[in-house]
Amino acid sequence: MYNGEKLNPAAFIEEQVADIRKTVGKDIVILALSGGVDSTVTALLVKKAIGDNLICIFVDHGLLRKNEFEDVLEHYKGMGLNVKGVRAADRFFAALKGINDPEAKRKAIGGTFIDVFKEEAAAVKDAKWLAQGTIWPDIAESFTGKGVIKSHHNVGGLPEQLGFGLVEPLKFLFKYEVREVGMALGLDSHFIGRHPFPGPGLGVRCLGEVTPEKIHTLQEADAIWIGALRESGWYEKVWQAGAIFVPQKTTGVRDGVRSFDNVIALRAVNSVDAMTAQIVHLPWELLDKVAKQIIDTVPGINRVVFDLSPKPGATIEWE
Ligand code: XMP
Repeated sequence: MYNGEKLNPAAFIEEQVADIRKTVGKDIVILALSGGVDSTVTALLVKKAIGDNLICIFVDHGLLRKNEFEDVLEHYKGMGLNVKGVRAADRFFAALKGINDPEAKRKAIGGTFIDVFKEEAAAVKDAKWLAQGTIWPDIAESFTGKGVIKSHHNVGGLPEQLGFGLVEPLKFLFKYEVREVGMALGLDSHFIGRHPFPGPGLGVRCLGEVTPEKIHTLQEADAIWIGALRESGWYEKVWQAGAIFVPQKTTGVRDGVRSFDNVIALRAVNSVDAMTAQIVHLPWELLDKVAKQIIDTVPGINRVVFDLSPKPGATIEWE
């Protein structure tokens, strides 16, 4: 935990369950699931405390990985969570139209998310509390004292707008501790091992203006990359990986004919708490295979590069 004490997951769960019960009583609590470990562990913890008085909402902002919305929604239902899936991709793409600046994109995504979530929350009778999967690095990185590096939507915005009380049981934990708590709550290892994924999703991995076409291209490339990491056994040895759509046309050649297409960058880093990160030394054979497969099968891409940048210097996400 951020105060230096070693976490005892069972004791932490017991303490938080008691605390949540005391705070919210018989009130209804709403939670936005993102498909990530933090919000999922928060949901399981709150469910353990108050059962079906927890109502979860999973919004499809159109910026998730390929097939992610359907797959994860099924998974949530299988965990016994009371969850409603909301398809809202069109609204997010409309809000992102013409916006190039990364922080303006985050704000457009965050603002649209608040609008969609507010509508859904208004439809839930007697909801008084909002549970969020905020963890310690979200807080630490949002307020460095040297200005905001990136605005994370977990921190600020939603609770004030809703007028709900806030339940943030994981806010003093690091990611690896959240995983330990998830394991103790019975979350399956496939889910616990999922790489971190930013709230604004592929929106901050698609440089410049976001369009449905670019996101579709990125989803295809990302699926090849993540699929190859899983197949080769590297997925579990990497802290976070993803593909980035770089809207820079470069010259290529296919079947003897010139092409002028965009670039995909591959990123794979190791980290403990996301505050620093080092690139993973992957086998060339794996990178070689993925690059060829993306260039051969993803329309509009004729060049693939691997990002060698550590954090600090760079950040993990390109935007
Ligand atoms: P950076 O790019 O700041 O990322 O080195 C550190 C960790 O935070 C994730 N990240 C975000 N998560 N909303 C989020 O919920 C965001 O706007 C956001 N930006 C970055 C990133 O994926 C990495 O795990």
